[in-house]
Amino acid sequence: MVDDTRIKAHVRARYAGIARQKLAGKPSSCCAPSDVIPADLLTTKDALPDDIVNASLGCGTPLEIARVQPGETVLDLGSGGGLDCFYAAKRVGASGRVIGVDMTPEMLALARANAQKIGATNVEFRHGELENLPVDDNSVDVIISNCVVNLAPDKDRVFHEAFRVLKPGGRAAISDIVTRVPLPEILRANMTSWASCISGAIMERAYIEKMRAAGFVGVEKIAGGENRLAPVYSAKFIARKPG
Ligand SMILES: C[S@@+](CC[C@H](N)C(=O)[O-])C[C@H]1O[C@@H](n2cnc3c(N)ncnc32)[C@H](O)[C@@H]1O
Repeated sequence: MVDDTRIKAHVRARYAGIARQKLAGKPSSCCAPSDVIPADLLTTKDALPDDIVNASLGCGTPLEIARVQPGETVLDLGSGGGLDCFYAAKRVGASGRVIGVDMTPEMLALARANAQKIGATNVEFRHGELENLPVDDNSVDVIISNCVVNLAPDKDRVFHEAFRVLKPGGRAAISDIVTRVPLPEILRANMTSWASCISGAIMERAYIEKMRAAGFVGVEKIAGGENRLAPVYSAKFIARKPG
């Protein structure tokens, strides 16, 4: 059994390295191949510079299922270089706002540099952990997250925090890596594989149960796992806090 502090240190170091590479204009990637944001989700208004789009380290498209509306407050758990935040910012408009939270200072530096580059004024990036969100109770309309919860050792705590900050009736749209079978302990102890979004992934059923245990209702898998031969896959989930 590997302790949570060691996992976090390893994950943080991995993403700090990736952020430094990206800040230096060099290519780098982390995880399983990501979905490209589907073209029909994007409008001309959504267009962002290639280097920001390429900074995505996600494994899906939570915004596609989040149905973000003008004026809403959106929280991105594990915002990385900020791509999903910037797309969300265009959807909430000037009357809404977007908060990205990430535990890696170098990622926050990358996200803030990207925000400055595109002149995004309704987005802010906060330093913090998913297990202890620097966000007020009942203050967020929509939570999005893209390929992050799998990296957290204490997923119960993450879902509990997500539930706390959502307004009653608020919703969550999450893309993440899950598994069809329990992963062997030897793989779960491999820190490189953990930071690559594999070893921390849990079974789809357990993922849904943890969300329900935190209080979410309407928890549903929208897509993912269609290839029954793949033991580890990306899936999209929606859920809401009872109104
Ligand atoms: C795979 S990247 C995904 C980044 C972003 N969501 C995207 O789609 O490009 C994971 C990000 O989550 C952050 N992260 C991992 N575990 C975290 C935790 N427990 N609390 C806050 N941030 C975390 C990492 O620093 C990294 O920026």
